[in-house]
Amino acid sequence: MYISFSIISIISAVLAAAYSSPQNVSATSCTISKYNADDILNAQNDCTEIILNGLNIAAGKTLDLTHLKQGTKVTFQGTTTWEYEEWTGPLIKVSGTDVEITGSSDHVLDGRGNLWWDGLGGNGGKKKPKFITPQKMYNSKITNLNIKNSPVHVFSIKQSDGLTLENINIDDREGDTQGGHNTDGFDIASSNNVVIRHSSVYSQDDCLAVKSGANYEFTDNYCAGGHGISIGSVGDTTVESVYISNCRVEDSANGVRVKTVYGAVGSVSKIIFEDVTLKDITNYGIIIEGDYLNGGPTGTPTDGVPITDLTLKNITGTVLKSGTNVYVLVEAASDWYCSGIDVKGGENVKECQGIPDGSGLSC
Ligand SMILES: *[C@@H]1O[C@H](CO)[C@@H](O)[C@H](O)[C@H]1NC(C)=O
Ligand SMILES: *[C@@H]1O[C@H](CO)[C@@H](O)[C@H](O)[C@H]1NC(C)=O
Repeated sequence: MYISFSIISIISAVLAAAYSSPQNVSATSCTISKYNADDILNAQNDCTEIILNGLNIAAGKTLDLTHLKQGTKVTFQGTTTWEYEEWTGPLIKVSGTDVEITGSSDHVLDGRGNLWWDGLGGNGGKKKPKFITPQKMYNSKITNLNIKNSPVHVFSIKQSDGLTLENINIDDREGDTQGGHNTDGFDIASSNNVVIRHSSVYSQDDCLAVKSGANYEFTDNYCAGGHGISIGSVGDTTVESVYISNCRVEDSANGVRVKTVYGAVGSVSKIIFEDVTLKDITNYGIIIEGDYLNGGPTGTPTDGVPITDLTLKNITGTVLKSGTNVYVLVEAASDWYCSGIDVKGGENVKECQGIPDGSGLSC
């Protein structure tokens, strides 16, 4: 009696499960192999391990990962692509607490940038989607991603606190010959405690661009093809405590750069560039300027965004003959500590202005 009752209840439980699950199998499935916005949302409500396997995202749609439960791990597998549309994107947005976004070893996120590239980047021509905007990420990680051919900016990190990006491989080199422009690797604004390490960026714009915020670390990274490692442009805002170390910058317009905006009021302080190697830099090995406006230099620096407590230590390497090894054009700079600067090869010597006395830096 007891036994047959148990068997009956087990059978009915199994039958119930078998009949009810097909109705909402997509909602509970944690592996998604075909793009559907509802499935992506339901997976975030139901799962803490999500696998996105070879998705092709519909035209004009963002892969929206902003509803992740605390502690969720998302893994990309296979090749992820997006259908073409002129729009500002992003292709992926992500938010969360204690989350990890990662990729299997053979995966690739292919932005198919050549469909948008027209040599104008974010300044005109086709509207182009940014690739990925991590926003409101707390105590989270983005690791082991292979990103290829971004239409325009790759990472735009905002309003995050405690975010580590590690082993990110950005390869936009096809943009060199096909009109890639403004393909910044990592842009960071309005955040705190962001670490980027063991990563590589091959692009046509800044490898790193720090726009605002505090406590960033950029270490053990490789940058090629673009505009180098930048703080700025810093306008009516502040950047404080950025540590850049053990990086290599090759075949880029600049090596290391700090730029502030003409006429703006803000500050740049506690910046360290340490152990940076340069190779075949075309324009400036080291450039620090306070005259930027609308994406270009005015030639006249203003004093509203002082650059204080700046350390340049062990910056070595080569600039092409037609380039300039070191160039500084600032007002209101103080407390610079420079040592082990050995940048050579550039024969276009420019007169510098505003280097604080006793800083150890010369042009
Ligand atoms: C699946 O469907 C059942 C019955 O319709 C429902 O009770 C359950 O909440 C659903 N599960 C999810 C995760 O939507
Ligand atoms: C200078 O930096 C390079 C790495 O960029 C490193 O290999 C070298 O050991 C550093 N030299 C000193 C004196 O710290």
